[in-house]
Amino acid sequence: MSISAVELVRAKRDGAELDASQITWLVDAYTNGRVPDEQMSAFLMAVYFRGMSRQETSALTRAMVASGEVMDLSGVGRPSVDKHSTGGVGDKVSLIVVPLLASMGAAVPQLSGRGLGHTGGTLDKMEAIPGWRAQLSPETMVEQLKSVGGAICAAGETLAPADRKLYALRDVTATVEAIPLIAASIMSKKIAEGTESLVLDVKVGNGAFMKDRQRAGELARAMVEIGTANGMRVVALLTTMEAPLGRAAGNAVEVAEALEVLTGGGPADLVEVTLALARTMADLAGLDADQAGALRDGSALESWKGIVRAQGGDPDAALPVAPVVDVFVAPETGYVQRLDALAVGVAAWRLGAGRERKEDPVSPCAGVICCAKPGEQVRAGDPLFELHTGDPGRLSAGRQALHAALSAGKIRIDPEPPPPAGPLIIERVG
Ligand code: URA
Repeated sequence: MSISAVELVRAKRDGAELDASQITWLVDAYTNGRVPDEQMSAFLMAVYFRGMSRQETSALTRAMVASGEVMDLSGVGRPSVDKHSTGGVGDKVSLIVVPLLASMGAAVPQLSGRGLGHTGGTLDKMEAIPGWRAQLSPETMVEQLKSVGGAICAAGETLAPADRKLYALRDVTATVEAIPLIAASIMSKKIAEGTESLVLDVKVGNGAFMKDRQRAGELARAMVEIGTANGMRVVALLTTMEAPLGRAAGNAVEVAEALEVLTGGGPADLVEVTLALARTMADLAGLDADQAGALRDGSALESWKGIVRAQGGDPDAALPVAPVVDVFVAPETGYVQRLDALAVGVAAWRLGAGRERKEDPVSPCAGVICCAKPGEQVRAGDPLFELHTGDPGRLSAGRQALHAALSAGKIRIDPEPPPPAGPLIIERVG
């Protein structure tokens, strides 16, 4: 059968449903350079407007998986379970659940990414640890899963290479936001990494990729369906991302906060979301253990140390500290009503914690600490934020991001306490 890219673009543009062989052909031809960027761009835009059926989305995912290697974790000797977050401000949950589940007997193959824009990347956070390295070969990763139960590392070039090429094209053609494309992109990498079970943390709110619950639910259902159709046990939790998770947003500051949780403490919202995800992961992996106990009794911390050491890091070394720490004070007395996650994420980014372009470096010591979270009381002049940076020239941009949010009512202090906060875990899918 001869297939032409222009015919597939036209069919999708006109709302037709493509079959699996057409999608497989297109992904393969694009990945191997036989279909040029301009035709694939047109196809992606057609998908953006026309959507994809379940069958099309599954076929797209399978074609992206087939573009590279699939890892085999069958020899690891532990049930494998991973977690993926769609990204939020202050989201350091992976740093906690990977060692926590490893300490309970799971293998957690966490292939992570770097941050772009206002949400941080797990690898950027981990790289704040002196000596730690993100690159592991698939063979080394499997060995590490056998020995310490967890690995946090960069996805190798050989896993779902079609996704890398397609994602770069989506980025420059304003087609990142299409739900079938996001679902196929995330799930192709998770299927290629070989995990048996997966828990998806789909963030909802102003600091998240998905601003409203309806779209977040649609994305969650699409990903659960793809995973299930591919023999994976998958559950998605929709969790709120209106305010930063925990108090710290940045790199070393988030590692420090993750360590607080790993030693039995930490902010209540972070602990609640972490335990909800960890419980779901343990259920899917068939593990029966006391997650909160593993945080209190030091076993999760021991696993953390093992994982950090296995990747060249020194878990006992001091984390980088910012040479410049500035305080942003509360302009009035009252209760914090609103603390916009996006504003805090942008401030941390401007201070150097995030990158503008994907080749930019990030500063390990930059970030923001929220001294008061929604519902907490402050007096005028009390610290509202700490701004950490390695470059004093960035302070004013960080402060401006917070000032602008204050003027726009996105950070708000009122005389009365706010109504009780809604649940952190909004919905379970799957
Ligand atoms: N993260 C991914 O890996 N892919 C997307 O398309 C969006 C977020």
